[in-house]
Amino acid sequence: MHLAAFLNAGPQGTVGWRHPQAADGFLTASHYAHTARVLEQAGFDFAFVPDSLAVPRSLGDSFDPAVQWGTGTPRLDPIPVITIMAAATTHLGLAATSSTGYQEPYNLARTFATLDHLTAGRIGWNVVTSFQDAEARNFGQDRLPGRDARYERAEEFLEVTTRLWDSWSDDALIRDKASGVFGRPDRVEALDHRGPYFSVAGPLGVPRPPQGYPVIIQAGASPSGRDFAARWADVIFCSHESLDSAVDFYRDIKRRVAARGRDPEHVKVLPAATTVVGRDRGEARAKHEAFVDLVTPEAGLSRMAYHVNVDLTRYDLDGPLPPLAEVGVEGHYREIVEFAERERLTIRQIGRWYGARTEGDMVGSATDIADTMERWLDAGAADGFMIQATHVPTAFEEFAVAVAPELRRRGLVRDGYRGDTLRDNLGLPRPARGEWRARAASTAQKAATR
Ligand SMILES: Cc1cc2nc3c(=O)[nH]c(=O)nc-3n(C[C@H](O)[C@H](O)[C@H](O)COP(=O)(O)O)c2cc1C
Repeated sequence: MHLAAFLNAGPQGTVGWRHPQAADGFLTASHYAHTARVLEQAGFDFAFVPDSLAVPRSLGDSFDPAVQWGTGTPRLDPIPVITIMAAATTHLGLAATSSTGYQEPYNLARTFATLDHLTAGRIGWNVVTSFQDAEARNFGQDRLPGRDARYERAEEFLEVTTRLWDSWSDDALIRDKASGVFGRPDRVEALDHRGPYFSVAGPLGVPRPPQGYPVIIQAGASPSGRDFAARWADVIFCSHESLDSAVDFYRDIKRRVAARGRDPEHVKVLPAATTVVGRDRGEARAKHEAFVDLVTPEAGLSRMAYHVNVDLTRYDLDGPLPPLAEVGVEGHYREIVEFAERERLTIRQIGRWYGARTEGDMVGSATDIADTMERWLDAGAADGFMIQATHVPTAFEEFAVAVAPELRRRGLVRDGYRGDTLRDNLGLPRPARGEWRARAASTAQKAATR
């Protein structure tokens, strides 16, 4: 099974910064370098840095950090952060989030190709379409475009980006000093792409990345998000309120991948899991309770409002959550609805839970956590997990010391890094030049059947 680590380029989670053992270094390079080394020692396949392009005013239109601290603010730019993490390690994969809504394909293709060369193939891109109006307002828009428009732009963005990575053949650069031949111009192609969203002549100014395409990650949960992921993603992140919903999601994704003519083994589904490990179950529960005690209702509510992109102060916080029409992160909204319907709670109570929830229910000894992970794998809910820490770096250090050795002992994770690139370690093939055609063809097919 595969292990990814969720690492904010800022304070961790809702109240991770308040935890007595949390390091205060989220604005320092050494914090990220140290965390990267801890994750590499534990054998993680990769670390992933989420992102958002705004300071959210999710709860009551306020910038007050005491109200908004569930939203992951402040947030550093993930690209320099993963660059520092890459320099501190030799095998750990590193993925940064970047939005198809507010980037240009040429810039993005160049940055990720550069990073993939500098790390000899350890880079991943978490493709997001952005989910908040606050982000739109930093880029000349009043509101976020609707979901269909966001995914339409994302489709074209992926087509152009992968074509830019393919604009050099793998053998285009000769560098033969004796003959004086530097490269073969016939192996470098322009794109001359003209579409509804982008006009890009190409070629890219950087040779084809070592991995062909850096590992493509996606986390959409709406039907359009799932189809998009089934076409383009190598890794899919998700987050579930129960094992049953995780199994449903896993089956649905693998079915969609197969329907696109791709091998379902080549798309890894990694549900989020917040692990709280103790020497025994009692100690872990006590650690978890102490963490829950730090969460104020505002912190949980602001996190929830931020994820669903709806200001919840519009509603009676002591009443039930009404159905929300167009939400930001569909996956998180589904979890909220599943929990709220089961427990019959008010918005305020849901917020309290949301701020301190431990996805995957992995609070216990290393044996308990490994048992739960094994149960999820056996049930067909996961190809591995995206581990979230209640606080950084200590919770990752505890995972490295206690849980990772137990997973290795059981043969669930590999011992050491097998391959040179992130794709090798994830068991993913290197896309041949021109692979984008297979994906884009499905896009055309989809348009034709619409
Ligand atoms: C585990 C997880 C992590 C995510 N990380 C980010 C992120 O860092 N930045 C972001 O803008 N969206 C993030 N998202 C949101 C999704 O990428 C996606 O854009 C959003 O869910 C809207 O698509 P959907 O309506 O198809 O679900 C994340 C979602 C999940 C479930």
